[in-house]
Amino acid sequence: MAIQRVGVVGCGLMGSGIAQVCSQAGFATVVREVSSEVVEKGLKSIEKNLSRLVEKGTLTEAAKGEIRGRLKGTTSLQDLKDCDVIVEAIIEQLPVKRELFSALDALCPAHTIFASNTSSLTITEIAAATKRPQRFVGLHFFNPVPVMKLVEVVRTIATDPAVYEEMVAFGAKLGKTTVRANDSGGFIVNRLLVPYLLDAIRALEEGVGSVADIDASMKLGCGYPMGPFTLLDFVGLDTTYYISQIMFDEFKEKRFAAPPLLKRMVLAGWHGRKTGRGFYDYADPNNPKALEL
Ligand code: CAA
Ligand code: NAD
Repeated sequence: MAIQRVGVVGCGLMGSGIAQVCSQAGFATVVREVSSEVVEKGLKSIEKNLSRLVEKGTLTEAAKGEIRGRLKGTTSLQDLKDCDVIVEAIIEQLPVKRELFSALDALCPAHTIFASNTSSLTITEIAAATKRPQRFVGLHFFNPVPVMKLVEVVRTIATDPAVYEEMVAFGAKLGKTTVRANDSGGFIVNRLLVPYLLDAIRALEEGVGSVADIDASMKLGCGYPMGPFTLLDFVGLDTTYYISQIMFDEFKEKRFAAPPLLKRMVLAGWHGRKTGRGFYDYADPNNPKALEL
């Protein structure tokens, strides 16, 4: 099957990046959000990214126009009905994802392939909300999507091998390096990354060091591009909290349990960079101020 039309559900941090790379790769792309305000916000961030590429000379103004022309925002699920592939990137909560895919299953033709960008949920359990688990995969992108080179392509025991290979090829067409992963909570990257991020919060709770010093340690001592607290704020503390609950539920191991401080920050509405406050205060975005406990 030749993939021509791609649907993306969710135009937040991840969905906007996924829609951008799909359109950049030449696919007619339609991205759905819950309200026109959120669609506009997501499209604006894509516009900003593309303009930056034009300023740097890596994209012509004409090519930018073509990319924007292939990309459509919508609030109507109906607009996804002719898509060959649909990539979901909505909130990390199983009932919400299952409800969405059940509706899409009723709407889309039999050939449409479904993919979830979930960080930690079991693909099998999301796919079970549809009558097409053989045409269901995980496509796990990384933040920021236009920059990060990897996509984990996840198969379940029910995924048709031909569909799986098609999705591996699709990941490559998006310009990403693909790795193959089985449907185990957190796949490859988050199985290793999430305990590290949660341990950084535990180290802070135990007074091992300050936010700024723990970040500087991992950045300068290990050569990581961001320290763990900068990365936590970047990923989103709400998303990290959902992920930790899901992975703890799956593995019943303390290393996946949400530290009390993370829970409290999420309850207080401190979701990281996207709300202007997390382990850093972004009132002055060029000079984030570290949380002092
Ligand atoms: N969107 C698009 N492009 C962006 C961007 C964004 N949000 N942020 C930065 N960029 C681009 C910049 O334009 C710049 O491009 P050029 O090199 O072509 O000029 C490039 O990325 C580098 O940016 P900067 O020089 O501003 O900053 P940097 O060197 O610190 O890089 C970074 C920024 C790429 C984000 C880097 O800090 C990094 O790799 N951080 C770690 C990110 C990471 O670990 N992501 C995975 C999170 S976990 C996850 O995604 C899985 C999950 O399920 C939770
Ligand atoms: P986000 O909060 O930035 O965006 C989620 C968006 O989904 C919101 O804009 C919300 O309005 C929208 N939404 C909710 N229900 C919807 C529906 N029924 N239809 C359309 N839109 C709907 O979250 P995010 O960081 O983009 O995460 C999205 C998914 O990607 C999650 O499953 C998350 O685990 C996963 N993920 C996140 C990261 C990350 O670093 N943040 C990395 C990889 C994967």
